[in-house]
Amino acid sequence: MTAKTPPRTYRVKSFGCQMNVYDGERMAELLATRGITPAPEGEDADLVVLNTCHIREKAAEKVYSDIGRLVKAGKAAGREPMIAVAGCVAQAEGEEIMARAPAVSMVVGPQAYHRLPEMLDKAVKGERATDTDMPPIAKFDALPERRKIGPTAFLTVQEGCDKFCTYCVVPYTRGAEISRPYSDLVAEAHKLVEAGAREITLLGQNVSAWSGEDTKGHKVGLAGLIRDLARIDGLKRIRYTTSHPADMDDALIAAHGEIDKLMPYLHLPVQSGNDRVLKAMNRSHTAESYLRLLERFRAARPDLALSGDFIVGFPGETEAEFADTLALVDAVGYAQAYSFKYSPRPGTPAATMDGQVPKDVMDDRLQRLQALLNRDQHAFNEGSVGKTCQVLIERKGKHANQWLGKSPWLQSVWFDGDYTIGDLVEVELLEAGPNSLAGRIIEPVIA
Ligand code: SAH
Ligand code: SF4
Ligand code: F3S
Repeated sequence: MTAKTPPRTYRVKSFGCQMNVYDGERMAELLATRGITPAPEGEDADLVVLNTCHIREKAAEKVYSDIGRLVKAGKAAGREPMIAVAGCVAQAEGEEIMARAPAVSMVVGPQAYHRLPEMLDKAVKGERATDTDMPPIAKFDALPERRKIGPTAFLTVQEGCDKFCTYCVVPYTRGAEISRPYSDLVAEAHKLVEAGAREITLLGQNVSAWSGEDTKGHKVGLAGLIRDLARIDGLKRIRYTTSHPADMDDALIAAHGEIDKLMPYLHLPVQSGNDRVLKAMNRSHTAESYLRLLERFRAARPDLALSGDFIVGFPGETEAEFADTLALVDAVGYAQAYSFKYSPRPGTPAATMDGQVPKDVMDDRLQRLQALLNRDQHAFNEGSVGKTCQVLIERKGKHANQWLGKSPWLQSVWFDGDYTIGDLVEVELLEAGPNSLAGRIIEPVIA
């Protein structure tokens, strides 16, 4: 490869989960330390970082077609964009990407992206670089300070997963579970609030497994961390995602009843409502134990909104087993949920299991499941009409004077008025649509 002009502008495109969004922000901050600025909206960037996800079918093919599109657009404009592939596809298929896509200058895994600036130096010299190492914790120490951000911010507190659900690539792409140290997280949360955050969502592939030691040397879990972060003055709201049913402890349940700043929302993936399927998935819960756990959360916080993840068509799933998932959905009444068709991921045990379910059966099951979930989401939104709640304004709406914010239950709420992004306002919920609610301001701005 020949030497390249140092990039002046960048674009980071993040796919997949919120942890990738967080990583994307941190990569942008790293590039900014090199004086590289975000490419203006609608303009091509000199450097494009594809921050990829490996969880869905055809994830790798999508990356190759994105690369192809970038090269083609560059050619048409008489330029050659520098391309970096980051994220979980980079981790899983780094060498193949280098071999198959000569236009790619850098491949960097989710645990190594702090080394992006050095890789960039090499790329400018015309050397292609791959880094998919998994150093235990070095990344976070090497990242620059948080810069200015919006009213809601992500904070990765835990990474990796030791659960090895038989369908899932995450333990391979993100590595073993690690918890970031308590004091680093408290410091980063302060920085986020100073930079404008009023809400922080604590992130982890398995966030409820976070553990650490507080400043007095006492062992603390996620609930203890939330309790301490809630003491930060300008911070108004705390959320966390994603949890695994196996790591939900009494302290976290109690925290939902005791800490006002902890929002009444819980995303707790179940995947299936059938115990045989759950066992084959290597999930450690049963449908019954999951339902009992939710009951305890609801006892602590009766208005808790629930969310979950579902997979339909796991290998061997029969119609009767799928019906158990529908029954579980009926029993829970989710406010919101994500549902997926099973996708065999290379290298995972389920990919070679007998009884792969035909595509049309999966399509049909997904449709039926989503019809139920949509019904419940709508019912949840309808049930909120007439309530008054605080809404954190996240952005301007489509019409003049219109604003969009989130309710405590993570519903999108629209209303009119003259406000600023980041304002917390008291809103009466007037009308429910399938995905959002219309509201009316009761109390303008709450400090
Ligand atoms: N750590 C989280 C979720 C990680 S992945 C948890 O376990 O709760 C996000 C969701 O993607 C999973 O909850 C699951 O529903 C879905 N998913 C993961 N692997 C999948 C696969 N091979 N096929 C279909 N859906 C999958
Ligand atoms: Fe994947 Fe299971 Fe870990 Fe979630 S808990 S990241 S689904 S292996
Ligand atoms: Fe995807 Fe990796 Fe997140 S596979 S869901 S980006 S952890």
